[in-house]
Amino acid sequence: MVLGSGFGQVLERVTPELEVPYRQLPGFAAPSVPGHAGRLLVGRLAGVPTILLSGRLHYYEGHSLAKVTLPIRVLAALGVRSVLLTNAAGGIRGSLRPGDFMAIADHINGMGVNPLRTSGAAGGDRFLDLSALYDAWLRGLLRQAARQMGVRLRHGIYLAVAGPCYETPAEIRAFARWGADAVGMSTVPEAIVARQCGLRVAGLSCITNLAAGRSAQPLSHPEVLAAGERSGARAAALLSAFARLYAAADPCTGRQTCCA
Ligand code: HPA
Repeated sequence: MVLGSGFGQVLERVTPELEVPYRQLPGFAAPSVPGHAGRLLVGRLAGVPTILLSGRLHYYEGHSLAKVTLPIRVLAALGVRSVLLTNAAGGIRGSLRPGDFMAIADHINGMGVNPLRTSGAAGGDRFLDLSALYDAWLRGLLRQAARQMGVRLRHGIYLAVAGPCYETPAEIRAFARWGADAVGMSTVPEAIVARQCGLRVAGLSCITNLAAGRSAQPLSHPEVLAAGERSGARAAALLSAFARLYAAADPCTGRQTCCA
């Protein structure tokens, strides 16, 4: 699991077996953004063996997308087969309110960059089919987890921008016409690389604010963090239930070693 803003409280439910700050991991960089701890944890979430990346690197911090997505390649190399990418996002669609959760059904890459842009000498298949990037089975587990926990879960299209500034109201109106339901500054590069590595991908947004122009309130990072905090307990319940359902549905995950 990659924990974005608003999802940190799940760590209270983790029994850690190993905890490593990113700065001790070769190739990892410490996040520079408040709300992103920068630690890799191996442990049990609701009894289920899980690796959690607490905090992520963003393109807007000045990192290359190769650096931003390195942790995903590391997870894949460790034998992980499914990844849940979480984030904070602004709600574009009228029915999305702060405090809602949205399972990502598909994405629009509005970052203007692609993590698979290389000379092709190394780095895997560049011409990926992304037509079913977000795994239907995992999204079904999120739906089930939300139902179990009494958490309202929407499903929609996540649009990623490069950031770091928030959008203009005109941009948000344009994104709405493109079919975007929520907007954020992460996840898309990681999802693409995870697919390239052959992982099942799920995405979950915590809607922390109404997107620019949808409310009179000015947008600010502290506000986004505070809204994420308020949703934190529900986010933790949702992720724990998801982990339990995943382990129950996939006999491989209940064991120490994978049988794939
Ligand atoms: N825009 C972009 N990224 C975000 C937002 C937003 O409104 N809210 C949280 N992350």
